[in-house]
Amino acid sequence: MMRATSSLFFAALPLLSLAAPLEKSTSTHGIKIPLNKRTGFTDSEGFVNLDLMNLHILQSTNKIVRGLNAFETNLGFAHPSLSLVDALVDVNKRAVGAVPLVSFENMLWHGKISVGTPAKEYDVDFDTGSADIFLPGPQCDDINCQGHALFAPNASSTAKDTDQTFQLQYGDGSSVSGQVYTETVTVSGVTATNQSIGVASTFSSGFSKNQFPADGVFGMGFQDISAFKQPPFVQTLIAEGQLDQPVFSFKLNTTGSELLLGGANSELYKGDFTYVPVTEKAYWQVDIDGVSANGKQSLTNLASIVDTGTTFILGDSDNVSKLYESIPGAKNASAVAGAGMWSVPCDSIPEISMTFGGRSFDIAPETFNMGKINGTGNDCIGGIAATDVINFWIIGDVFLNNVYTTFDIGQARVGFADLA
Ligand SMILES: *[C@@H]1O[C@H](CO)[C@@H](O)[C@H](O)[C@H]1NC(C)=O
Ligand SMILES: *[C@@H]1O[C@H](CO)[C@@H](O)[C@H](O)[C@H]1NC(C)=O
Ligand SMILES: *[C@@H]1O[C@H](CO)[C@@H](O)[C@H](O)[C@H]1NC(C)=O
Ligand SMILES: *[C@@H]1O[C@H](CO)[C@@H](O)[C@H](O)[C@H]1NC(C)=O
Ligand SMILES: *[C@@H]1O[C@H](CO)[C@@H](O)[C@H](O)[C@H]1NC(C)=O
Ligand SMILES: *[C@@H]1O[C@H](CO)[C@@H](O)[C@H](O)[C@H]1NC(C)=O
Repeated sequence: MMRATSSLFFAALPLLSLAAPLEKSTSTHGIKIPLNKRTGFTDSEGFVNLDLMNLHILQSTNKIVRGLNAFETNLGFAHPSLSLVDALVDVNKRAVGAVPLVSFENMLWHGKISVGTPAKEYDVDFDTGSADIFLPGPQCDDINCQGHALFAPNASSTAKDTDQTFQLQYGDGSSVSGQVYTETVTVSGVTATNQSIGVASTFSSGFSKNQFPADGVFGMGFQDISAFKQPPFVQTLIAEGQLDQPVFSFKLNTTGSELLLGGANSELYKGDFTYVPVTEKAYWQVDIDGVSANGKQSLTNLASIVDTGTTFILGDSDNVSKLYESIPGAKNASAVAGAGMWSVPCDSIPEISMTFGGRSFDIAPETFNMGKINGTGNDCIGGIAATDVINFWIIGDVFLNNVYTTFDIGQARVGFADLA
């Protein structure tokens, strides 16, 4: 069942149990899964792929729109503190160019899970910005399912049809739709026996193999944004008594990345966690105390959600403009690089920091710089971009690459610590 995890995984386990202090990572369920790294939007020469970048931003914001719509359907009222300014955006209409034929290979934090009896492996995108698991099924005969591992419920003795269908709308008019089953799902040796999973009979174009290397999506948000109206995987594990601690943690750095279920890996962070309360248990929603550029704070008190599925930090246009206006040489790059983009001089990338729970965390200039626009100018895309679809912030990799993050379901809080 763990055959595709690397030998590194096995090598790391004894190290972990010997080195970790008793109060940390002692649980046999403190189980790590190595994730494939994501490198960003640049080519080998450091130029940014504008098509890919713009498409990714639209896909991210559309995903958040779907979650907020699911919230309203599930609870019967609109989300009390996060609001939509726009509906789903048509990714074909809005992208600056054609849909790119470049690989998204390094774009997602993806890793292996196994599903069914006998267990079969699938590669999934671990996403704290959604709450459902879905995989393509054998009935999916559209081109977007080609090349993906398909999950066949009729080949698994533990698959139970729930008689519930699902449909997730995508911005290009397509949808991911199918049937919800309950199944046995295992992630690095921890098993949920009654987990809802969607088996898709249609897959939208964003999931075609050349754009989306994983087979499916593995949501790690809260049930209120579940389109299936069912408990997400980690909540199922907790309900089935499979985790000693109701938490999971991520290191998401190009030098190595890891998801750990049931704890925090004390080898990967140093110092203490700074915790921020989750203000509404739908997304992993936390308040940003402030954002500073080169030591000067220009923004305070912003609502945000922490999303491992988004690369950028995205914010509302007015506040993002205010931040860049405080940065020497920053320019509105909407016309050259796509709506909402800002550039900074490549030879003076600003020091950006974000304060959470009273503590300021720096964003390394290398992670803030998304790459040079082209060979003629000296402008690099900044890792904070504006969106007019939502009026809150999405904290993606540009921030998360710099910290070790723990998602605490039991105490409804997010903790950030320095990387070791
Ligand atoms: C399982 O379902 C697929 C597609 O629906 C079908 O082609 C296949 O024959 C089924 N297999 C069995 C063993 O029923
Ligand atoms: C299995 O999960 C489904 C969907 O969440 C739920 O309705 C059902 O009660 C669960 N069954 C058991 C035996 O826990
Ligand atoms: C994280 O990745 C950056 C490159 O993006 C690197 O400079 C930094 O040293 C890494 N940090 C750790 C702790 O691995
Ligand atoms: C900027 O953020 C503040 C704090 O969340 C908010 O009150 C304000 O409305 C935002 N500006 C705009 C124009 O959305
Ligand atoms: C940035 O420039 C575009 C046109 O290129 C303009 O439509 C937009 O309003 C500008 N944004 C800001 C915040 O000034
Ligand atoms: C190259 O980027 C600069 C900004 O650095 C921009 O002004 C210019 O129009 C771009 N050239 C092309 C051909 O896109």
